[in-house]
Amino acid sequence: MSAATGKKAVLQLDGKEIELPIYSGTLGPDVIDVKDVLASGHFTFDPGFMATAACESKITFIDGDKGVLLHRGYPIDQLATQADYLETCYLLLNGELPTAEQKAEFDAKVRNHTMVHDQVSRFFNGFRRDAHPMAIMVGVVGALSAFYHNALDIEDVNHREITAIRLIAKIPTLAAWSYKYTVGQPFIYPRNDLGYAENFLHMMFATPADRDYKVNPVLAKAMDRIFTLHADHEQNASTSTVRLAGSTGANPYACISSGISALWGPAHGGANEAVLRMLDEIGSVENVAEFMEKVKRKEVKLMGFGHRVYKNFDPRAKVMKQTCDEVLEALGINDPQLELAMELEKIALNDPYFVERKLYPNVDFYSGIILKAIGIPTDMFTVIFALGRTVGWISHWLEMHASPYKIGRPRQLYTGEAQRDIKR
Ligand code: SDX
Repeated sequence: MSAATGKKAVLQLDGKEIELPIYSGTLGPDVIDVKDVLASGHFTFDPGFMATAACESKITFIDGDKGVLLHRGYPIDQLATQADYLETCYLLLNGELPTAEQKAEFDAKVRNHTMVHDQVSRFFNGFRRDAHPMAIMVGVVGALSAFYHNALDIEDVNHREITAIRLIAKIPTLAAWSYKYTVGQPFIYPRNDLGYAENFLHMMFATPADRDYKVNPVLAKAMDRIFTLHADHEQNASTSTVRLAGSTGANPYACISSGISALWGPAHGGANEAVLRMLDEIGSVENVAEFMEKVKRKEVKLMGFGHRVYKNFDPRAKVMKQTCDEVLEALGINDPQLELAMELEKIALNDPYFVERKLYPNVDFYSGIILKAIGIPTDMFTVIFALGRTVGWISHWLEMHASPYKIGRPRQLYTGEAQRDIKR
């Protein structure tokens, strides 16, 4: 539980004083408990939740000023380079990194749940072949609840835990199939002899005609690291959506589907796709100066830059850039879009417009270049983000259900019409 500090904030209102308790966490700012403001007949007002801690959590900590991201206390750069994605999943779900035995057991559990009911494959046929893969994911993931009626009691911890495993295990299968469907290729089924990221890339790019298809280990390692870099990020918009949906008692598949929907926006997880389209639009380094003037005139945003919390480098962007260099070198790719991205970054980091607003590259700025090098099509970039983030969403959903919670129900400042009567 949070530490009640004994300290209090005093609000003076209409000649009265309201004492508001202050709590301290392990790291980060203290919080002021404002629920007693209600008794005064007032609401607090914080559109966009700029200064609002919506819950207590032990999963992830971000220091936006220092560019720090910790998962259960471990820095993201250590997890991304010294652990694999499933170890990070275990850590987020259980609070500790797994022992070798725990890892083997967890990996086996996930591996044994990668298949989906064969009826699920029929959902895809309802979509046009040119459907955006995120539209397919929203629909198909939400529909999964129809296949697990015997394990949807959210009060049952065993049901909650098996659901977490099922979602982590099945998301790659559904993600790969959402791609295969749009390119008109037959679905490739998961294999128990492949690692998590390797299995995903195999389902993405193998075909029945190429029986000996092998995933490049360099790409599998990069894919696994990208999943880790997207695993969780505190109370971001999509995670907050999952928590809000979960607070109504909605089933976990519906909650994760709501997270996928929220992630799709270009201000959030859709930014990685938007970065590549921005780089395509700019075309070459010669056009950067003109583009930056459009940004300053607020005609466009520099996608992949800026963050609600980070007012310093996003630590994930640093690891992503390092991975980008490794993958492009290993593949012998000289991608002009990387050069273009680096020129944009160099200019932005020295331009007062961006420096004054503390706009730095975020997780989405370089991810698209690696994903393109791996062979992932642009409209699949946000699906990759959703795949990696599913463990974060379900970890927060589990944390919320592990202790008493109330339905989330914000209020408003009403500035509409006062009561009036219909006059005929
Ligand atoms: C993710 O929350 C999370 O943790 C999200 C995430 C996660 O892992 O879950 O980290 C993933 O969503 C990363 C962010 C991806 N989005 C983008 O790259 C899209 C481009 N970025 C912007 O849309 C914006 O920076 C946000 C949405 C990310 C943050 O917006 P805020 O916190 O509401 O900031 P703001 O809009 O108030 O911006 C402050 C100023 C404004 O200028 P002024 O009004 O002060 O003159 O900075 C400007 C903005 O116009 N600004 C930008 C900019 N981002 C902010 N100007 C140009 N390009 C940008 N990208």
